[in-house]
Amino acid sequence: MGKDVIIACDFDSKEKTLAFLDKFTGRKPFVKIGMELYYAEGPAIVRELKARGHKIFLDLKLHDIPNTVKKAMAVLSRLDVDIVNLHAAGTTAMMTAALEGLTREDGTRPLLIAVTMLTSTDQSAMENDLLIREPIANVVLHYAETAKNAGLDGVVCSPLEAEKVHERCGASFLTVTPGVRFADSDKGDQKRVMTPAEAKKIGSDYIVVGRPITAAADPVAAYERCMKEFAD
Ligand code: C5P
Repeated sequence: MGKDVIIACDFDSKEKTLAFLDKFTGRKPFVKIGMELYYAEGPAIVRELKARGHKIFLDLKLHDIPNTVKKAMAVLSRLDVDIVNLHAAGTTAMMTAALEGLTREDGTRPLLIAVTMLTSTDQSAMENDLLIREPIANVVLHYAETAKNAGLDGVVCSPLEAEKVHERCGASFLTVTPGVRFADSDKGDQKRVMTPAEAKKIGSDYIVVGRPITAAADPVAAYERCMKEFAD
């Protein structure tokens, strides 16, 4: 898979999701299904979007004991999604078990990527709540390296971290980056943002874009603009 724009389908129902995707006549964008939509509609929504021809990043961020994650990943693998994820904080043992669970009998599996430190966690929350007293940039890179050593395919990270992750973990280690905004659009609650063109320049492999597309007056035009800036 090459560079692509993944649309975050942050909707609370199948009806809203399909009404949104029906606007893309002739196009089958790569989509992200997160907790909100998955918990509302269950695996059926994954099957439906897959049957309609979309690639799917299932963003459920697993984090539990290794055996539980292994078994959950085996079930998700049967859904034939393209990318799934977990928290690197679950440790190497959990990530290794996840890969085992994800790998099908024929040796194929979806890509597995790790969330490093959530971008909503800042230095003070990390120190005070998690008792981690390292600069957050070091923690992100350490988690990325741990994920790489466990055999994972990449990380979800801020576009501002993508370059450093590639330096540390190699160019083929995937960086999937949310926090993307057009130069002339509202940032919403995202604080550290980049435009699609900037994300391309610093080497993001995939950008995850939600509201700049889903809340646009013309979502298809906004998607095409993202693709033009990032992928073409
Ligand atoms: O609407 P917006 O473009 O901000 O959506 C970004 C998507 O990426 C959302 O689904 C959000 O949950 C997700 N995400 C993020 N930051 C992270 C991880 C995931 O914004 N660190």
